[in-house]
Amino acid sequence: MSIKVAAFSGSLRKESYTTKLVKAFAAQTPAGAELELVEIGGLPLINQDLEQNLPASVQALKAKVAAADAILLATPEYNRSYSPVLKNALDWGSRPGGQNSWNDKPVAIVSCTPYTLGAFGAAHHLRQVMVFLNMHPLQQPEFYLGGAADKFDADGKLTDEMTHKKIDETWAALIAWTERLRQK
Ligand code: FNR
Repeated sequence: MSIKVAAFSGSLRKESYTTKLVKAFAAQTPAGAELELVEIGGLPLINQDLEQNLPASVQALKAKVAAADAILLATPEYNRSYSPVLKNALDWGSRPGGQNSWNDKPVAIVSCTPYTLGAFGAAHHLRQVMVFLNMHPLQQPEFYLGGAADKFDADGKLTDEMTHKKIDETWAALIAWTERLRQK
């Protein structure tokens, strides 16, 4: 049975390294898996007043999360945390109360920065939120991409061999983790 992965980028920037990283994961999707990059830029800002009549974009997000076997969360680092764009999507997916679409999903967290120091803070703040959402983060391999500006060509394609290898390892671990959780 194929494993459906819903992937999210925490950056809306056209030339985002984070989105390029998700696309690199998509390009290396192994047999037996599929990856969809879910658009989150059109979601309204979280607002409980909208919960009585959930906006179509929120309903679409929740449907895609519910249909996924596993989640890939990719985030830039903003002030040593993950991005509000991603938080907004996580918050909407968790609402209304008692209807948490993220519940029980295996998840791989990847983060990136164009600098040498960074990405760790973003990923670990995100891990904290996974606890309350009752998601199951992959522990290893950890995935922090530093120096992201030098790892993609002019067309946005990943050129770094080590990162290609890391993506393959992460894919293999996420699939094994998802299958293991299915056997519960
Ligand atoms: C940043 N950036 C940044 N980088 C980092 O390594 N650690 C950090 O704490 C921050 N903080 C931060 C805050 C805000 C508000 C912005 C806009 C940016 C720089 C950031 O890593 C860089 O702009 C990346 O290129 C953003 O990711 P995308 O858009 O390329 O995916």
